[in-house]
Amino acid sequence: MMLNSIKKIFTSEEDYPLNDKSKADISRDKSAQLYEKAKRFFPGGVNSPVRAFKSVYGTPLFIEKGEGCYITDADGNTFIDFCGSWGPLILGHAHPKVIEKVSETITQGMSFGAPTALENELAELIISNNRFVEKIRFTSSGTEAVMSAIRLARGYTKRDKIIKFEGCYHGHSDSLLVKAGSGLVTFGETSSAGVPTPFAAETLVLPLDDKEALEQAFEQFPDQIAAVIIEGVPANNGLLLQSPEYIEFLRQICTTNGSLLIFDEVITGFRLGFEGAAAHYGITPDIVTYGKIIGGGLPVGMYGASAEIMSHISPDGGVYQAGTLSGNPVAMAAGIATLTELLKSGFYKDLNNKTEEFRASIQRFADARNYKFKVFGIGSIFWFAFTQQEAITKASDIAHESMEKFKILHRELLNRGIYFGPSGYEVGFVSGAHTKVELEKAKRAIFESLDLVFQQK
Ligand SMILES: Cc1ncc(COP(=O)(O)O)c(C=O)c1O
Repeated sequence: MMLNSIKKIFTSEEDYPLNDKSKADISRDKSAQLYEKAKRFFPGGVNSPVRAFKSVYGTPLFIEKGEGCYITDADGNTFIDFCGSWGPLILGHAHPKVIEKVSETITQGMSFGAPTALENELAELIISNNRFVEKIRFTSSGTEAVMSAIRLARGYTKRDKIIKFEGCYHGHSDSLLVKAGSGLVTFGETSSAGVPTPFAAETLVLPLDDKEALEQAFEQFPDQIAAVIIEGVPANNGLLLQSPEYIEFLRQICTTNGSLLIFDEVITGFRLGFEGAAAHYGITPDIVTYGKIIGGGLPVGMYGASAEIMSHISPDGGVYQAGTLSGNPVAMAAGIATLTELLKSGFYKDLNNKTEEFRASIQRFADARNYKFKVFGIGSIFWFAFTQQEAITKASDIAHESMEKFKILHRELLNRGIYFGPSGYEVGFVSGAHTKVELEKAKRAIFESLDLVFQQK
């Protein structure tokens, strides 16, 4: 059997659960060499922590190219990709229309630090097809978009405190790198070294799906809460699907208390539909943030609101926010080409239907085998949870031990040519480029892998 070769490749042999039905491991020699080199240059060998494969087996794969729903690593292994660069690639990799528009734009120069017509073009595409924003500002990342939205909410309301929810990720700005303490309403504690305690103290962290906690927070801090921020659908700590009624409650409690409701749609924007989670729930947030898909794979973020709220942004208003590369023409071009495809009739219907079939078929398989396993999903997003719970709405509902099972699943899937993000807390994405053929192949690999996961002692 190939058990020895399997053992050789993995760095953490001691906790590598071998099973004689496991497939031989893919070769990672070149990725491993690149990783060793990268460790000389970057903390942990990476430029964003989750890429370091700390929660799964083996060294990180270095990706060489992507085409459609496939990616190929430095060792020549090809995978069906369900990470999609963590969400942006809703059309798949190197979509011809995106490549064409980017190539034609890039030959004209890459950045001017002055306005270009491309910014107008992307803005018009968005604003004329979105009920929730009248004016917008482009940034270069989701983090920047959300950080600026928080500043805007504070400047607009002249209040300092914000409410965020446990399990929601909003990028790595200081106010938002905060985790809950114990108790119903807690002052946040920093969840990163380097965030001053007084900053974190302006962020209240509440559990999701808990109306009482919200009521108590507003009672405890009357006229002090600038905004409540929530992910359109919380999708960074598993997929924590909230009830429409709870979202409606959020809207009402913000309105009653003169606080702004911010929907962070960095994942859900242009993913659940062109107008994201706001349209899905039929709720109008006061400020919306986008990222990921809006740049079609290049760095773009955006925040937007009514013209009245946006009039507080500099140079019209007193809330300062800027960016050397904001509205970068090449990034705008990628966004324009991507969003134009998304607006084509039937795009979301096809994408969401095929994802729903994919999810349902995996769930049927797991149920038939009596596995403690649930596939949660919405639109073209899915999340595998090793649980029997019918619903998971709070971060605290997720059993940390269940991630051991994900680790095995991840290994088995890589060995069968299926690429998932390297953490069981991350969701997967289906793109327009996944056809029935790839989804069938992926299902077969998932079935085999689940059998192995549930055979492990
Ligand atoms: C909901 C949400 N908000 C904000 C961000 C931060 O975006 P970026 O990584 O582009 O800075 C992310 C990133 O994953 C996200 O998922």
